[in-house]
Amino acid sequence: MASPVETPTPARSRARISARTLRTDRWWIQPLFTTLGLATFVVYAGIRSFMRSGYWAAEEHYLTPFYSPCISDSCVPGSAHFGTPLGELPGFIPLAFLSLPFLLGFRLTCYYYRKAYYRSIWLSPPACGVAEPHAKYTGETRLPLIVQNAHRYFFYVAFVITLINTYDAIVAFQGGFGLGNLVLLGNVVLLWCYTLSCHSCRHVTGGRLKHFSRNPVRYRIWTQVSRLNTRHMQFAWLTLASLMITDLYVWLVSTNTISDLRFIN
Ligand code: FES
Repeated sequence: MASPVETPTPARSRARISARTLRTDRWWIQPLFTTLGLATFVVYAGIRSFMRSGYWAAEEHYLTPFYSPCISDSCVPGSAHFGTPLGELPGFIPLAFLSLPFLLGFRLTCYYYRKAYYRSIWLSPPACGVAEPHAKYTGETRLPLIVQNAHRYFFYVAFVITLINTYDAIVAFQGGFGLGNLVLLGNVVLLWCYTLSCHSCRHVTGGRLKHFSRNPVRYRIWTQVSRLNTRHMQFAWLTLASLMITDLYVWLVSTNTISDLRFIN
């Protein structure tokens, strides 16, 4: 005779644990470093965007990405690669006012950065097995977080801005060939890796298709984008570093603090 199967007693409620966490490892290291990394970039980029100096190395033709595109009469001669359709801008407006809000929106709504700042800054939750301090969770269904759903539109604009940064890097070769050209190029390559590995780009290339077999070209592009997508977090951090390094390099060269290593003049 078959033995009767025991039905487990359903748990009535979750275990009552008053401690915020039972974890004994240093779970707070990752949120701490994430916060420090993001704060470093925000402070650096914020200061530099408003400085209005040290953004164009005239002799070498290097333009920092933090001031691109520069399209007003306030831009120093040579730095406006697309002309100056606008007059003088008041001092409190960054010269790259056209691109900065979109780039900020692109990064703020990025799937990876969302995860990073939700966990590390918002502490929602700070780590696995660590209770969050918030009593309520409404997800991204109402203002302001519903704006996160606009990510794909920021992606379209960011794509164009990456094209502009690429143009800046190519134009820089008019001044010869130096270490700064490699810095600008390296930054642009990483920016493309970050932009093309975006989840929205994955959707643009392969989304809404019922049959990959009937769309071999899109399937191939989607496959490559998906491959890049697995490294999106790394590109997110690498581009923060490359943007700061590129800007710092242009700043130091343009103010004659260091001289550019020239290969061809
Ligand atoms: Fe990160 Fe789009 S840029 S998901």
